[in-house]
Amino acid sequence: MDIIYRPLDQGTIDNPHSIYDRLRIEAPVFWHDQTKSWVLSRYQDCRFVLGNHELFARDQRRVGRQLPSSQVNMQIQDPPYLSELRIRLSDAFKRQDVQGLIMAARGRLEASLQRRPAQIPFDFMSEVAADVALNLSLRLIGAAGYPPTNYHGIFEGMARQMDSSIDPSRRRDGVAAASELRSLMHAWFAIPSNEGVIGAIKDGMPNQESSSDYIVNTMCGVFNACYSTLYAMTGSVFHVMLENRHLIESLGSEISTDAAVEEVIRYISPAQGSSRYAVAPFEFENTKIRRGDAIIVLFAAANWDPSIFTAPAKLAFERSPNPHLGFGWGTHFCIGASFASRWVREVLSFLQLNYKALSLAGIPTYMNMATLRCLSALPLIVNR
Ligand code: HEM
Repeated sequence: MDIIYRPLDQGTIDNPHSIYDRLRIEAPVFWHDQTKSWVLSRYQDCRFVLGNHELFARDQRRVGRQLPSSQVNMQIQDPPYLSELRIRLSDAFKRQDVQGLIMAARGRLEASLQRRPAQIPFDFMSEVAADVALNLSLRLIGAAGYPPTNYHGIFEGMARQMDSSIDPSRRRDGVAAASELRSLMHAWFAIPSNEGVIGAIKDGMPNQESSSDYIVNTMCGVFNACYSTLYAMTGSVFHVMLENRHLIESLGSEISTDAAVEEVIRYISPAQGSSRYAVAPFEFENTKIRRGDAIIVLFAAANWDPSIFTAPAKLAFERSPNPHLGFGWGTHFCIGASFASRWVREVLSFLQLNYKALSLAGIPTYMNMATLRCLSALPLIVNR
């Protein structure tokens, strides 16, 4: 039977792994007419593409496509062009008091849950995760004193735009959201302070350069990647762990928490995929890919490839090695990976102490999004 892959259909949103499994087995190099892209779902193929930027470009200008200069940022470039800012950004991250930031976010999470009246269901995503993720992201970049009024709306617009090759009507939401975020970022860059990642980036850079479109656009991408993945991951870790209570108790004593962090990231894979462009003709398993063809690399499908991960649908904290692609691979490997892992570790530690006081109070639902896998609602209840 022909494979029909509709990433935004409710069935796929509810359970993407059902179609990912079919793709991996029946059509590992699948032409997806809706997005006019090749979809790769096997681990080795995904890793090969991500690790080979000479053959597979992130920057579509390398295959002759146009990109307005207002959209150029580090995230769409390939080496050697992205290297200078990537190094600068990595240094800026290293200069932050990560432990202090994470502990403050944990305090916020604790306080927020303590305030909840017992036995009354609430939505963890909108009432807790959004606030904790936003505050942590603002502190990290150095804009804690200047919170936006409706960042969640901007996040939704940006996340919807990531799916605009599937549903072109989503591009409009993205353009408006990106423009709002750029205005915010310009305002944050104008704060006379040397705090956070923005402060560290500005340090030693002439004003004109630090407020250039390139730097501001890149920081918009950093901020949104930070908020969206912390928000999605905080919700999903709560959800998955409250459904796997027996695993929480094994943490620390029998099981290393670092291994558990890697495993929840593999298992959840909030970043489901990314795209690249073939710079030269290439043949994958007898399928000819032409120069310029777009390729979607499905991290989430690769992370459940049974040829690499035994019993991939099982959340196995003892899994080792765990070479997952949850943070990507190669030149665009997630720049916030160590920060995000530190946060996930803290969420697990919080749950280890508090899970008995928390229960699911309804059926969680997912946002209608394909690139980012994120809960839209997680009903919980506090039992005291
Ligand atoms: C669990 C949380 C996170 C996950 C699962 C995640 C996942 C990913 C993945 C898969 C990529 C590679 C995209 C590609 O190859 O096209 C990526 C890149 C990136 N991530 Fe993350 N991320 C997380 C947290 C964060 C955080 C907290 C930040 C910022 C503080 C961040 C900033 C970035 C940036 C800026 C890039 C682009 C790097 C580049 O293009 O060179 N991420 N992330």
